[in-house]
Amino acid sequence: MGCLNFSPSKTLAPSFLLLLLFCITNIAEAFNFTTISFDEGFSHLFGDGNLVRSPDGQNVRLLLDRYTGAGFISSSMYNHGFFSALIKLPADYTAGICVAFYTSNADVFEKTHDELDFEFLGNVAGKPWRFQTNFYGNGSTSRGREERYRLWFDPSKEFHRYSILWTSRNIIFYIDEVPIREVIRKEEMGGDYPSKPMALYATIWDASNWATNGGKVKANYKYAPFVSDYKDLVLEGCPVDPIEEFPFSACYESDSRIANKDYSAVTPSRRAAMRKFRQRFMYYSYCYDTIRYPVPPPECVIVHDEQRRFKDTGRLKFGGSHKGQKRHSRGRSRTPVSEDPDI
Ligand SMILES: *[C@@H]1O[C@H](CO)[C@@H](O)[C@H](O)[C@H]1NC(C)=O
Ligand SMILES: *[C@@H]1O[C@H](CO)[C@@H](O)[C@H](O)[C@H]1NC(C)=O
Repeated sequence: MGCLNFSPSKTLAPSFLLLLLFCITNIAEAFNFTTISFDEGFSHLFGDGNLVRSPDGQNVRLLLDRYTGAGFISSSMYNHGFFSALIKLPADYTAGICVAFYTSNADVFEKTHDELDFEFLGNVAGKPWRFQTNFYGNGSTSRGREERYRLWFDPSKEFHRYSILWTSRNIIFYIDEVPIREVIRKEEMGGDYPSKPMALYATIWDASNWATNGGKVKANYKYAPFVSDYKDLVLEGCPVDPIEEFPFSACYESDSRIANKDYSAVTPSRRAAMRKFRQRFMYYSYCYDTIRYPVPPPECVIVHDEQRRFKDTGRLKFGGSHKGQKRHSRGRSRTPVSEDPDI
């Protein structure tokens, strides 16, 4: 049973308590993985001085100040894997800030890159963080596959685990032990399904033109530095040289090891937790945005309750124009959902 059970109550506090209860009674179900230190698997990517390691290398801090953000990257690229970290986000005023935890190969395959994203979007003081998941395959940047959600906790208060499972069959985004999104590969997706080796990235950056209320609220450096913390890093996959010939037969063993791991199993109770999460916390899905996609992309599973709730816009409250603008950050191009409902 997953570590999640939402009470029907509208207030946060009772469900929080219930949640705690379920977490405590389900500790035995936590994922089985091996954590590594920063030096064992990662290197500094950008932001001189804004990456701070604890002396034992187990904790990493990324800062954003008025001069620069910061980021780190896995030293290897992986052909499939489970990528995970405990993350704590900046507190208080965080409008305009994006904290991203993602896999990509854009540095190697500039025009045909693959990507799997968690992107946390800051907010003004007193308003909660929100986040989106997304993916691209073989350079499909004109076909964003965003979903946006609220969280059932304050991600700046304590560490929570964020994980991306990527196999040849499916993709699962997890928060703690709750699968929040599963993409099952469909043949019709063709190259849109990520298929080339990727590295894991963690970054914090100024996304003032996009992150909060569609760019209406900017980062305010009166509140800098913005601090995000990372620990208990996990890289379980098949490290490969991305330029080598496909397929990577050497990854057969690694793939089957991952397939047998607990985090690869969407048990009925995990599936129920996923459904509850999506009913209650998802506020945008490209699958229901018939303005962008008159025909939903092939991997979309249309749930009729959700379809009714989202109507034709894919979002719960209509937030404005659909015309996204390309955004760039460290070579990442974006065609994001341009407006948020103001919640
Ligand atoms: C956890 O994983 C390790 C290595 O994959 C394995 O040896 C061990 O038996 C697993 N433990 C449990 C409880 O599944
Ligand atoms: C990926 O894109 C390239 C360039 O557009 C194309 O030649 C190739 O066939 C695509 N691969 C797949 C698997 O769709």
